[in-house]
Amino acid sequence: MTISTDNPGFFDLVGNVRAMRRLKPDHVPQALLDKVLEAGVQAPSGMNTQPWAFVVLRERAAKSWFAERYQAAIDSRFVGADVAGKTNSSFARQWAAVEYQKEHMAEYPLLVLVCGKRDWPFKVPKDQRVGLAPPNYGAVYPCVQNILLACRAVGLGAALTTMHQVFEEELHARFSIPEDYGVVVTIPIGYPLGKFGPVSRKPAREVTYYNGWGKQ
Ligand SMILES: Cc1cc2nc3c(=O)[nH]c(=O)nc-3n(C[C@H](O)[C@H](O)[C@H](O)COP(=O)(O)O)c2cc1C
Repeated sequence: MTISTDNPGFFDLVGNVRAMRRLKPDHVPQALLDKVLEAGVQAPSGMNTQPWAFVVLRERAAKSWFAERYQAAIDSRFVGADVAGKTNSSFARQWAAVEYQKEHMAEYPLLVLVCGKRDWPFKVPKDQRVGLAPPNYGAVYPCVQNILLACRAVGLGAALTTMHQVFEEELHARFSIPEDYGVVVTIPIGYPLGKFGPVSRKPAREVTYYNGWGKQ
């Protein structure tokens, strides 16, 4: 799917929201960020509880603090990641972009921490609810996808990242995030260095069954 206009229709847009990890450091106007986050909060949530909140990092000191820990998290989790010998693979291309993101995290104009209020799933009985409940992922992810779509619609690049969970406790302390919220996703946002392009996915037909699993 290729986008032909500056004001793409929904089906053009949805097929062109690739993870954009190479971003310019240029300032993003507040009005654009407002528009994008406003799209985020149009998402559905159980009983319309709207269990999301955003912490936007835009001061250099805050972003550098985050970037330092993000880099360490990636390096500690992907020691010796096997990319050698796969230089032409899509994995190697994606890994190069992840490395770029890791190196440039502090330079991106905006890092948006999308937080979700903690909420026990119904299937966990009350007497088994020990410790902190998980954040309400089910509601936060539609909000995140709206944000990614809105970024694409206004010409901003964005990428969904989750590595912050390695240092989430520190993140809470540094930015005064209350305990009853979890940080679900961090989205670096900025103007793209490269071009937008189509995503690569299996057709829905390949993963759709009728009247029972495996029946196409
Ligand atoms: C639950 C989830 C977690 C993800 N975590 C990360 C992440 O930590 N870092 C990252 O660069 N991308 C992350 N992504 C983005 C995926 O890597 C990306 O969407 C996928 O590889 C497809 O690439 P594309 O969106 O460019 O087509 C995540 C996506 C999802 C849905």
